[in-house]
Amino acid sequence: MGSLVVMDRAEVFRKALDSARAGGATVGLVPTMGALHEGHRSLVRRSAAECVTTVVTIFVNPLQFPSGDDLATYPRDLAGDLVAAEATGAGMVFAPTEAELWPDGPPATKVVVAGVEQGMEGAGRPGHFAGVATVLSTLFNLAGPCRAYFGEKDFQQLAVVRRLAADLWFPVDVVGCATVREPDGVACSSRNARLSPAERAAATVLYRALLDGAEAVTGGNRDADHLRRVMADRIGAEPLAVLDYAEVVDAATLVPLPRVTGDARLLVAARFGDTRLIDNLGVTA
Ligand code: PAJ
Repeated sequence: MGSLVVMDRAEVFRKALDSARAGGATVGLVPTMGALHEGHRSLVRRSAAECVTTVVTIFVNPLQFPSGDDLATYPRDLAGDLVAAEATGAGMVFAPTEAELWPDGPPATKVVVAGVEQGMEGAGRPGHFAGVATVLSTLFNLAGPCRAYFGEKDFQQLAVVRRLAADLWFPVDVVGCATVREPDGVACSSRNARLSPAERAAATVLYRALLDGAEAVTGGNRDADHLRRVMADRIGAEPLAVLDYAEVVDAATLVPLPRVTGDARLLVAARFGDTRLIDNLGVTA
């Protein structure tokens, strides 16, 4: 390993980015929960291409697992993550413990981004996005002025982060990055490793459903209920998939649409055994 700076102290992280900026560097922030895969790596590469100093944060945030769901089994691989971070161009990694980030115990302050957090992931996991917005407020305040990179893979999260940064005037430019997919179209996710071979094969149905929806739009179909049905039918035809939702929303507000006009987003979620996967695709009419 070369010159990667690894930090676990909040004050050290804050000072390192302050002095990077004082030296004229632009800072790129890539918040993650670790177990870095190709999707995460693409964010780090993009940041390294656009910013002088790129810092990857690694913190499995308990606040965003409201029911404890898969917190205990969340994959962790700090050693592998350090190698991946450095190989993709990061100069720094900040990997704090929970006690370091919040020495007074779990934060009493909760940041709730109303509106965009409603429905879809917000409906299935109450409290999840408040957990995301709260940890990101902590990280943004420590990081200071920067560009922050997030994946479109978590499209509703990206909308929450954009609104959070705008409403609270965080000195953070939020950058959305395209979803990275496996060769068969399945979006890269740390959850993919939990799928049985049969479930992994079945998981391709999510992207196929989105492509069906996009094709219907290209073919002139604007009726959102028809598009929801097209996607739900495709997923319903896969015996190993249990549909959670198939939605058509405005790409900026995430409000469900009656008809596709302008920039819309198709979003789907389904369970494959114990593993819940999400995916989405942009369409324009
Ligand atoms: P995590 O799931 O580790 O994801 C970190 C970042 O990687 C997010 O911005 C996510 O959208 C992006 N990402 C994941 N899979 C991707 C893919 N296939 N293509 C492109 N980007 C992808 O999202 C979180 O962590 C947390 O909620 C966090 C924002 C760190 C707050 O705790």
